[in-house]
Amino acid sequence: MDRAAVDELRLENMRRSVRLLYERNRQRGHAAWCDRDYDFVCPSSVTYPFQWFWDSCFHAITLSHFDPSRAESEIAGLLANQQPDGFIAHVTFWQREAYLDRLASYAIAYRTPYLSDCIQPPLLAEAVMAVAAGGRGAAYLREVLPAVRRYYDWLRDVRDPDRDGLIAVLQADETGLDHSPKFDAELGLTGGVGDDYTAAWHRVADPYAAVGRDPARMFALDRFIDEDVMINTIYAENQRVLGELLAQVGERDAAADFAARATRTKDALVAKCWDPEAGLFWDLAGLDEHPLRTSTITSLFPLLLPDLDAAIAARLVTQLEDPATYAAPWPVPSVSRAEPSFQPGRAGDDLVWRGATWVNTNWYLARGLRRHGRPDLARRIEDATATLIERWGFREYYDALTGEGHGAPDFSWSAVILDLLEARSSEDAVSRVREEPAAGGS
Ligand code: GLC
Repeated sequence: MDRAAVDELRLENMRRSVRLLYERNRQRGHAAWCDRDYDFVCPSSVTYPFQWFWDSCFHAITLSHFDPSRAESEIAGLLANQQPDGFIAHVTFWQREAYLDRLASYAIAYRTPYLSDCIQPPLLAEAVMAVAAGGRGAAYLREVLPAVRRYYDWLRDVRDPDRDGLIAVLQADETGLDHSPKFDAELGLTGGVGDDYTAAWHRVADPYAAVGRDPARMFALDRFIDEDVMINTIYAENQRVLGELLAQVGERDAAADFAARATRTKDALVAKCWDPEAGLFWDLAGLDEHPLRTSTITSLFPLLLPDLDAAIAARLVTQLEDPATYAAPWPVPSVSRAEPSFQPGRAGDDLVWRGATWVNTNWYLARGLRRHGRPDLARRIEDATATLIERWGFREYYDALTGEGHGAPDFSWSAVILDLLEARSSEDAVSRVREEPAAGGS
């Protein structure tokens, strides 16, 4: 079989597995507490039965390829309980009462019994773009964009108090990268087996509770402030995408505003976080903005940005090709192989993001590689990711050296591989048409 035929077969199989997975992980019902129906895909029915923010954005992107109506429901579930100020919770506990035993194992700060009081990586605009493209287009955009704008305005107004264009997270779990070793020192952890993550979480969350979780007072405490490179790359990209979506519905001033805000965030990342000596971007922590010099996948994320300077992009690609850092048998490890904290697979008791390979970060990096002229390397990552899923199922994460799947089984965002396979299948079809002379050509 030629490559195109192999790709098509793989895509067909993946479509089938993803549909089945999203049936198994579908949560549907009526929530009396807010008097609304819900219909969303949970991250994993075994460990995470509720609606998580960034997970749902990935689920919506995946659903946009085969079920436009469920893709809309996924976003509707996120927007349903948006607060009047624009905030959207990182977890909505729609069916809380059915899973009280699960709640006991989470370290989560609550705004209400049904909503967490945290954010997660802000990829709502990217998700909305996919849902619109796979479904009702501009009519859908007109319905949801006002709420989406309010969310990004809230991020700017509340999470960028120094107005440098970079937003900050106030707890490690807000990055979505909960136990990343880049936070160890900030959290008073050693990276060893004796580390108590629950105690570390309380060291941050308890003083916040004491100030009523008022964001301005939380910033003033300076317990955990992180201008995270991944969060801000996603923030920049999503402001850019929101600008494009606003342009599509004729909102020219708002479109220009978001385009300018996207550039400002990108410029701030380069001016403040880029380290030309190391060839990496560093998060800035604390009110004094000290760099967190642990090389994690976050340090490569700006590769996603289409207008990133080509010389910087090339330096990041070097990292991805270097077996001493980010090239691994099963790419891309979430921590550089050169870091003493690197653990390729399972780490401690349920610790995550300490070196294993994740599908959602591969989704971002593969797209970044295509944007910066490296479809060959993107293809390698896409194929390796698809193979991991074919061998081990949709797992939460995979061992970067052996490929073995770990963490939650039936993990829904790993299905976002479908988006990569669909995208390249359409691109390949377009280039085949270009290469073949038109029938009976002139
Ligand atoms: C873990 C991950 C987080 C994710 C959540 C639900 O906490 O670190 O990023 O959103 O699980 O899947």
